[in-house]
Amino acid sequence: MRRRIILPTSVGQQVNKGECTVAKVTRTAAPWLYPVPPVLVSCQDAGQANIITLGWCGVASSDPPIIGVGIRPERYSYDIIKRSGEFVVNIPQASQVELVDFCGTISGRDADKFARCGFTALPGQSVQAPLIAECPVNLECRVVQELSLGSHDLFLGEVLAVHYDEQCAVDHRFDLARADALVYAFGGYYRLGEALGRHGEWVRRKR
Ligand SMILES: Cc1cc2nc3c(=O)[nH]c(=O)nc-3n(C[C@H](O)[C@H](O)[C@H](O)COP(=O)(O)O)c2cc1C
Repeated sequence: MRRRIILPTSVGQQVNKGECTVAKVTRTAAPWLYPVPPVLVSCQDAGQANIITLGWCGVASSDPPIIGVGIRPERYSYDIIKRSGEFVVNIPQASQVELVDFCGTISGRDADKFARCGFTALPGQSVQAPLIAECPVNLECRVVQELSLGSHDLFLGEVLAVHYDEQCAVDHRFDLARADALVYAFGGYYRLGEALGRHGEWVRRKR
């Protein structure tokens, strides 16, 4: 079936392209990436441990391995990470969604989130900040750069050690299907969906 692509712009201009009809809505600029992995970032300063839920967390470099986390200066965790220069990215399971939401709603100024969530603080190998034992994956990070960007400051953390639960391994390799991954988009939480294929398999099939 022949279709036209119509691309209305913010000034009402229309573009016809090819055989498809596509109407685009233009909205105000925003960091509209979806979904993102909501993570539980643990931190510690002067013996006081805390947990903050972050949606703004992503890979910045493979070698050296660097992860960026965006944190608002008013968060209790912000000063802890700024002072200690380290944090642990704990990747939760979808079954832990209520605890993820709790750590993203209540401040460490008002509650001991480790105690309230029933989380076990495990000592790290390379950082003072504790790992959350109940999360299947833990990445120990040391801050290597900080950027003030506006609403959030970006902390770039070099990953010094990676730990994952033995129960998530199949034949000694991490198996994502066993991690019960949680994703976040537009204020909602979802369980990661169906596997579609492996990197490069469609190119290989056509050869
Ligand atoms: C799903 C989710 C994602 C969030 N992402 C961020 C984020 O990326 N950066 C941030 O500064 N706050 C984020 N927040 C808000 C903080 O987690 C929340 O304000 C928290 O209570 C701060 O804890 P703290 O004061 O103990 O540090 C998020 C909250 C939720 C529920």
